[in-house]
Amino acid sequence: MNYNKENEAKLQKSYMQEVRNLVEDTSKRLGRKLTYHVTTFGCQMNAHDSEKLKGILDEMGYMEKEGEDADFVIYNTCTVRENANLKVYGRLGRLHSYKKKNPDMIIGLCGCMMEEKDVVEKIKSSYGFVDIIFGTHNLFQFAGLTLKRLQENRMIIGFEDDDNSKIIEDLPSIRKYSFKSGVNIMYGCNNFCSYCIVPYVRGREFSREADDIIGEIKKLSRDGVKEIMLLGQNVNSYGKTLDNPVSFAELLRRVEEIDGIERIRFMTSHPKDLSDELIDVMASSKKICRHLHLPVQSGSSALLKKMNRHYTKESYLALAEKIKERIPDIALTTDIIVGFPGETDADFEDTLDVVGKVRYDSAFTFIYSKRTGTPAAGWESVPEDVVKNRFDRLLEKVQTIAAEKAMALEGRTMDVLVESINEHDNSLVTGRLSNNSTVHFGGDESLIGRIVPVVLKECKGFYYIGEKE
Ligand code: 5AD
Ligand code: SF4
Repeated sequence: MNYNKENEAKLQKSYMQEVRNLVEDTSKRLGRKLTYHVTTFGCQMNAHDSEKLKGILDEMGYMEKEGEDADFVIYNTCTVRENANLKVYGRLGRLHSYKKKNPDMIIGLCGCMMEEKDVVEKIKSSYGFVDIIFGTHNLFQFAGLTLKRLQENRMIIGFEDDDNSKIIEDLPSIRKYSFKSGVNIMYGCNNFCSYCIVPYVRGREFSREADDIIGEIKKLSRDGVKEIMLLGQNVNSYGKTLDNPVSFAELLRRVEEIDGIERIRFMTSHPKDLSDELIDVMASSKKICRHLHLPVQSGSSALLKKMNRHYTKESYLALAEKIKERIPDIALTTDIIVGFPGETDADFEDTLDVVGKVRYDSAFTFIYSKRTGTPAAGWESVPEDVVKNRFDRLLEKVQTIAAEKAMALEGRTMDVLVESINEHDNSLVTGRLSNNSTVHFGGDESLIGRIVPVVLKECKGFYYIGEKE
């Protein structure tokens, strides 16, 4: 196939310029700058994609605006649970009312939900006021799609390809924080956990070349970035399919060497692929944060098998134990699904047991949501009241343990990367510890982007009130 990334990148840049000229014309006609707003649903990967959308919008001559009554509004959607989809449909009605008042308004929908055929059909038939739709594989074509919309004045749908190897990275981006950034190391997922829609919408796993990733991080470092988050659905299987395979642990070693980068995070780890080599690299690293997100999903070996997770309760517990032994100050966090089809009381007790044994620093708990097209969608569901009751019990246990774990650090002095002025009290700043906990303490704007030692004076359950040392 005749596809050249460099040419495609150049083409997109030329589309940006063409859109910019059209935007300037409209701007003159209206006597004001045109504005944009990007609303992000879902995970870190989407948040990172939204920074690219903003970069392209900025390049196309739009100016960011707080509210959704902008000239160009984009919803970067998520579809991992049904609720996420319902939220988008709910909010589209409001966008329509803005559009009735502003005929120049453009509404764009992108992200995982748009990779579902049924969704696109529904939008075409019931939400005809939407202007542009594209999926996760086509984000880099955003400028071209916008140009087409402006020239042809009809709904534009961009799904030419779902090949993750064709994604172009060299595009503008506007970071939410100047001092930290996400970096994609791989796209897609090959695991097909039986409840999960991600492999169907995000496509097959594809790892970027290590040299490209390192090059991007060096550039970010020169641009003032201190903390990076390596992003992938399953970072532990990074690099296995490259022509010259590179393990995730090896990639981390190379990132560690980059001057200026002070903190390294990554998301998400699958327990089945977490190697001893990775634990060793983390244990000896000065930069890799003391935080590992290790989704367990369920504590029952029988259910884990049905979920297609490729580990058991015992092997997960052994892994967690090994990690804690090798890296004693690590914060372990997790994702747990309650009410997976066929979950019995005994299965649920196993989940509570794992929570009690691992003692997570925090956990995201989800009620199972049926996703059409996944194997589990056809399996018998657990009654709603039973699920609700289990969910409440789980949450209670998770929160009690998390609060106890947080309390254990009270009084200690730890490094905080300051992120922002506190939202509620502008005499305080807000930042994060290496273990990802939030700390608020007295300070001003000059601290933003700096790593400073802070005494954790008081633990408030989920966060700390501190004092600069
Ligand atoms: N229902 C509920 N939770 C789900 N997750 C993924 N698919 C589903 C589903 N169908 C959760 C998993 C995953 C997290 C990102 O979302 O816990 O780790
Ligand atoms: Fe979904 Fe499993 Fe892939 Fe995570 S590893 S994205 S839960 S299929």
